[in-house]
Amino acid sequence: MPEFTNPFIGTVPRQMTHEELVRAIMLNISAEFEAVHLYLAHRDATTNEDARKVLYDIALEELVHVGEFTSLLYRLDPVSAQKVEEGIEEVRELLDSKAPAEASAGAEAAEGTESADAGRRLTVGSLLGKEG
Ligand SMILES: [Fe+2]
Repeated sequence: MPEFTNPFIGTVPRQMTHEELVRAIMLNISAEFEAVHLYLAHRDATTNEDARKVLYDIALEELVHVGEFTSLLYRLDPVSAQKVEEGIEEVRELLDSKAPAEASAGAEAAEGTESADAGRRLTVGSLLGKEG
């Protein structure tokens, strides 16, 4: 949350080291996501269409800032870039390419569900209390 009442909040008496700059950029990325959350929460809490539209537009702009800070972080800290890319790739592998055994197990489970449902399938007659 903003702490504008104290003019010394957020200032430092010296220049940051490279490592401190990297960590500051990480904090800035978090702050941008927090802003997105705040604006969306405020949008969701009002029925005023003008306010909803502006809050949503600003929330999307904050996501652009996330991208800008992330790009800067990657330039400053290649290890962060590498680790984030590893995470993206792990999810890509998990969700985009199913192993053959996993795919066939899913199909068998779906068939089992379907055949079990067939035995319990309702008809007009069963809804009327008549079998048929
Ligand atoms: Fe921002």
